[in-house]
Amino acid sequence: MKPTTLADLSQLKKEKRKFATITAYDASFAHLFAEQGINVMLIGDSLGMTLQGFDSTLPVTVEDIAYHTRCVRAGAPHSFLISDMPFMSYATPEQSFSSAATLMRSGANMIKIEGGSWLCETVKMLTERAVPVCGHLGLTPQSVNIFGGYKVQGRDETSAQQLLNDAMALEKAGIQLLVLECVPTALGQRVSEALEIPVIGIGAGNLTDGQILVMHDALGITARPPKFAKDFLKETGNIRDAIRLYIEQVESGAYPGQAHSFK
Ligand code: KIV
Repeated sequence: MKPTTLADLSQLKKEKRKFATITAYDASFAHLFAEQGINVMLIGDSLGMTLQGFDSTLPVTVEDIAYHTRCVRAGAPHSFLISDMPFMSYATPEQSFSSAATLMRSGANMIKIEGGSWLCETVKMLTERAVPVCGHLGLTPQSVNIFGGYKVQGRDETSAQQLLNDAMALEKAGIQLLVLECVPTALGQRVSEALEIPVIGIGAGNLTDGQILVMHDALGITARPPKFAKDFLKETGNIRDAIRLYIEQVESGAYPGQAHSFK
């Protein structure tokens, strides 16, 4: 089987074909997701909440992400894996190099960092050293204490324009994918149209290039799911069909519909 690459994702964007991605943390689920047709997985620091039971992603360490990246890589040898750089693991250039090296050596194809233009230098330094970088804008959970909760971002024109400026600056600095979380559908569309790289939305409407869901949200495991989450298992009754339905609804644009989006 041919490994999935960033060039494949760029091609999908050029062809205006939407794609589904999901978080994965272990070999069994990673294998099942790949078998059903999800070729891009995120080893997200959401594992701090979904697996470790914390109330935020802040306690997660680079070693935690490295361990789960190795597990996912074992189950999905040909998938494109993005590993999260956890809180405070990219605060200085030295930390960024060391964290990224650990994650790439654990099987990641790309690392993800949360934040705006202040990260441009980090993005440049990492990409120059052969580490592909995914940006993350909108509701960035590592900043929950700055935001004062998990709130929709970019609702007014000033903050929407700021987010768009950040996205363009990060693209210029070298990011090759962008995750956009919890923003109104119109802003999801605006950012996706402004960037050449694929934009993967979560709670960002159905006009982004791709979608990502935390696997526990897609399978109805989360106790208090966010508005944008959809329980695909409830509709299908088994995990394989649930994942197929998720993929089909993302590709057709049926998910996320209005009930799972922000105005
Ligand atoms: O950690 C994570 O799972 C994420 C997704 C919410 C995109 O960053």
